[in-house]
Amino acid sequence: MRVAIIGSGPAGFYAAEALLRRTDAVVHVDMFDRLPTPYGLVRGGVAPDHQSIKTVTRIYEKTAARPTFRFLGNVCLGRDVTVEELRKHYHQIVYAVGNEDDRRLGIPCEGIARCTPATVFIGWYNGHPDYRQAQIDLSVSRVAVVGNGNVAIDTARMLLRTPAELEKTDVAAHALEALRNSQVREVYILGRRGPEQASFTPPELKEFGEMEDVDPVVAPEELAGCAIPESAGNTQQEKNLKILQSFAARQTGAKAKKLHLRFLVSPTEIIAGADGKVAGLVLEKNRLEIQPDGTVSARGSGETEVLEVGMVLPAIGFAAKRIAGVPYDEKARVIANEDGRVVDPVSRAVIANEYVVGWARTGPQGLIGSHKGASAHVVEHMMADGAGLEARELPDREAIDSLLRQRGVQIVSFSDWKRLDDVEMARGERRGAPRDKIVDVGAMLALLAQH
Ligand SMILES: Cc1cc2nc3c(=O)[nH]c(=O)nc-3n(C[C@H](O)[C@H](O)[C@H](O)COP(=O)(O)OP(=O)(O)OC[C@H]3O[C@@H](n4cnc5c(N)ncnc54)[C@H](O)[C@@H]3O)c2cc1C
Ligand SMILES: NC(=O)c1ccc[n+]([C@@H]2O[C@H](COP(=O)([O-])OP(=O)(O)OC[C@H]3O[C@@H](n4cnc5c(N)ncnc54)[C@H](OP(=O)(O)O)[C@@H]3O)[C@@H](O)[C@H]2O)c1
Repeated sequence: MRVAIIGSGPAGFYAAEALLRRTDAVVHVDMFDRLPTPYGLVRGGVAPDHQSIKTVTRIYEKTAARPTFRFLGNVCLGRDVTVEELRKHYHQIVYAVGNEDDRRLGIPCEGIARCTPATVFIGWYNGHPDYRQAQIDLSVSRVAVVGNGNVAIDTARMLLRTPAELEKTDVAAHALEALRNSQVREVYILGRRGPEQASFTPPELKEFGEMEDVDPVVAPEELAGCAIPESAGNTQQEKNLKILQSFAARQTGAKAKKLHLRFLVSPTEIIAGADGKVAGLVLEKNRLEIQPDGTVSARGSGETEVLEVGMVLPAIGFAAKRIAGVPYDEKARVIANEDGRVVDPVSRAVIANEYVVGWARTGPQGLIGSHKGASAHVVEHMMADGAGLEARELPDREAIDSLLRQRGVQIVSFSDWKRLDDVEMARGERRGAPRDKIVDVGAMLALLAQH
């Protein structure tokens, strides 16, 4: 059986591994990615100062070393190849394209300069080719990060790290330079609900108390009404509350930078200064309401304040991008599916032999490890549905390569990527860092063409 997997992030790699280790079928996997580099958000999302998380790629390298696996990097579905063509060349297709669009606040002035979705800021510091030229103006002293998840935490932490802390990481060289000269001294993380509803995790929250030049600041009244447990407890909520309580109990420290955690506030308008750039943020105070289904939601009270900040970074979630020919669920903003089987978004009829895994299936929830079981679950469907499919004769395996080359696409194989990997690590060594990323697709392709 021949399978195309589109996307080389964690979900794609775990699906490949589950397919390739089957003992009841011989599966050949071709994994495509629009970038010449594999690993999705492990390379382009995970924070540079969390290097240990990135070692998960060693597992993916083992998958890539299997003889029936091929990587076809620098091939974008919807640009270089169509769904229709994939259907001709493969028995089954797995979409593992992640969530590459950001969600918007939908408030006045959201599009002005220095209001930048966290996706852009994160892609910029991680050297994602799409964002290498993003305009990130760090000449301001106060920044607001909207959202109470781990992406908001990553964003704030990276803004507040010292140059010495950043130099040890694989932060992109252009971002290191800009962050060295940054004037940012205060960052506000703004949650629309309360501390008990925050989705950030305790180790990530605690890290603010351990940074070189940052004092975390929580006004005691932010925790009023929260049931603070006696001990740190076992749940994420209990642990977060204890950490927040310890921050609130600290004296205002002497460190140069401050991280403020504010709760129960929603941005309602961005204020533009005379230069047309962000000069402030109108915040509405919220109260919590328990819904009939037990969920807790935020409701505006009408009471507002202005927070003077020079930059706003919304970190409020992501959505799957639309790809021509791939059914899209407009409400959930994912690829339309029932438990990983792609369906028509209106009739919900199953589209045979097409599957979706990872964030493109579920939306942007879950850690890297969660995709292992989730992708394996979808592979079970593929095997159950796929009996006898291999009898359908396909063009030669390399026919897809010829088609792409005729179109002028320079396919990047896994061994090509390993050459780029070696170059990046050697450049990193010269900088005293684990890696110095090449951030331009043209430069990557030129380098491969030279050798
Ligand atoms: C900023 C950030 C930090 C995170 N940090 C952590 C962390 O520290 N620890 C943790 O456990 N989890 C972390 N996560 C979560 C984790 O990254 C995700 O759970 C995981 O990456 C989702 O995997 P995926 O394979 O669905 O998507 P992705 O990792 O996004 O991979 C999608 C891949 O599809 C490719 N692609 C997209 N469109 C096309 C196309 N049309 N044609 C070809 N290829 C295409 C992309 O280039 C990409 O390589 C973080 C997430 C974010 C956003
Ligand atoms: N270090 C790590 O391990 C790490 C790092 C980064 C990401 N991740 C993982 O990646 C996934 C995605 O992270 P995430 O932070 O994007 O997602 P998240 O945990 O869902 O957080 C999104 C936040 O945005 C808020 N929000 C949504 N719409 C809003 C609006 N209109 N106005 C104000 N706030 C709004 C949400 O508030 P409500 O709760 O009120 O909806 C929530 O606080 C998570 O599973 C996360 O754990 C992990």
